Formats: sequence, structure tokens, C-alpha cells
Amino acid sequence: MSESGKSSRQVCERAVLLDGGLAQRFEIERGGRRIPCFVIAYEGQVHAYRNSCPHRGTELDWQPGEVFDETGLYLVCATHGAVFEPAGGVCVGGPCHGASLSRIPISVENHLVVLQTDVLVAPQPPASAESRGE
Ligand code: FES
Repeated sequence: MSESGKSSRQVCERAVLLDGGLAQRFEIERGGRRIPCFVIAYEGQVHAYRNSCPHRGTELDWQPGEVFDETGLYLVCATHGAVFEPAGGVCVGGPCHGASLSRIPISVENHLVVLQTDVLVAPQPPASAESRGE
């Protein structure tokens, strides 16, 4: 069980993720290390990635959970502005063009976003249901 008492694979409720809105941040453990990650909704699907830019390894957010650009169509790295396609995580502009974010396997089960192969070690406070511009 996680610190919150939830299942150790349960990231968040699906309903808190709005298309192009705030990401839900969380951490997993791999090889004894805590890995920051986030999950987003885009075009009705959910996608989770390590929160690590392929350019320099910094977290993408410019504020916690703010990983989309102002259009809600691309993920953007706050450090040097790399732009990523949300559904595949491929960088389509910026210093790591062609590189990809590292995908975290998830699924949606009973209205919950659930990790498939990793164990949650630090669920973050739920993201606001409001996203930028809504
Ligand atoms: S660290 Fe992300 S673009 Fe440089």
C-alpha cells in the first residue's frame, strides 16, 4: 500500500485528467531509485511518461503539472522549450528533436489510472480538475 492507503499501482482517478490540461505527477521506484513521472489526457486517451526531458533530464513542468503548451496540443519542456507530441512523446521541435520521452505503462480500470508494471511510491496531491483556459 502507498502512503495514501490506496493501491500501490493506482495513480489517480481518470476524471481528474482533462484533455490538454494539468498533468498528475507521481513517482515510481526502479532499481531503488525514485523516478518522477506524470500522466496526461490527450484526445480522450491517457499517457504516462517519466518526467525527464531527453535533452538534459530536467522535469518538464514550469509549474507542478503544467506540461502542456498554451494550445493544449503539445507537451513543452520548461527548461529550453523542447516540444513533444503528447500521444507518443516524440520531440518535434527543440534541442532533442527526434528523441522521445520514456513511456510508463498504464491502463484505465474502473475509472482509475493504474500502473501496469511499476509500483507507485509517492502519489502527489490530486491535480485540479481545472486546466488552463477552462
Ligand atoms: S532540458 Fe528540456 S529542452 Fe533542454
